Amino acid sequence: MTARTAKKKPTKQSAPLKKKTTAKKATKRRVATHENNTKPALYASLVVQLLSLLKGEHDFIANAANFSSLLFNSLPNVNWAGFYFLQGDELVLGPFQGNPACVRIPLGRGVCGVAAKQCETIIVPNVHEFPGHIACDVASNAEIVVPLFDGERLLGVLDLDSPTIGRFDDQDAEGLNELVTVFVAHEEGIGP
Ligand code: SME
Repeated sequence: MTARTAKKKPTKQSAPLKKKTTAKKATKRRVATHENNTKPALYASLVVQLLSLLKGEHDFIANAANFSSLLFNSLPNVNWAGFYFLQGDELVLGPFQGNPACVRIPLGRGVCGVAAKQCETIIVPNVHEFPGHIACDVASNAEIVVPLFDGERLLGVLDLDSPTIGRFDDQDAEGLNELVTVFVAHEEGIGP
């Protein structure tokens, strides 16, 4: 079986945040540059790191746990990163990094449930404007959800939250889709 890349359905993005004129200016500018100009390089580096983590190991849960840790610790401004796996007609919490989260999400509910039902990547610049958003962490203001497929079979979703409105864009969608494709291809046939 081969993994396929989920269809992207980016939503309208928020305007860039204004630069601050405080002592933290240099740091803020560096982060902004990193996010705006080098995301593809960062995701390319994460592909290499993920392949290294997966090498020689085929325990699905262990690999999903390390994958979520890699994302959580490598991507700036992310307060939750992890998986929900499809069981029947609902998503069930899998390995993740961040605060404890809701365990079960019916298909079609919340950002995760809608992304799974529609088999599409969903970028939500402001979760407070997404009808039916399920709030697991009050710190979360933006979210991206990427479906995982084993061939045509939906395995679940990868979910990332950020406290920064407008944090995720098409480059994140592209990078995360590539990462989940690498992950699923490695786990071929041994999903949940
Ligand atoms: N916000 C998600 C629920 C999962 S948490 O963000 C970890 C949603 O609306 O589906």
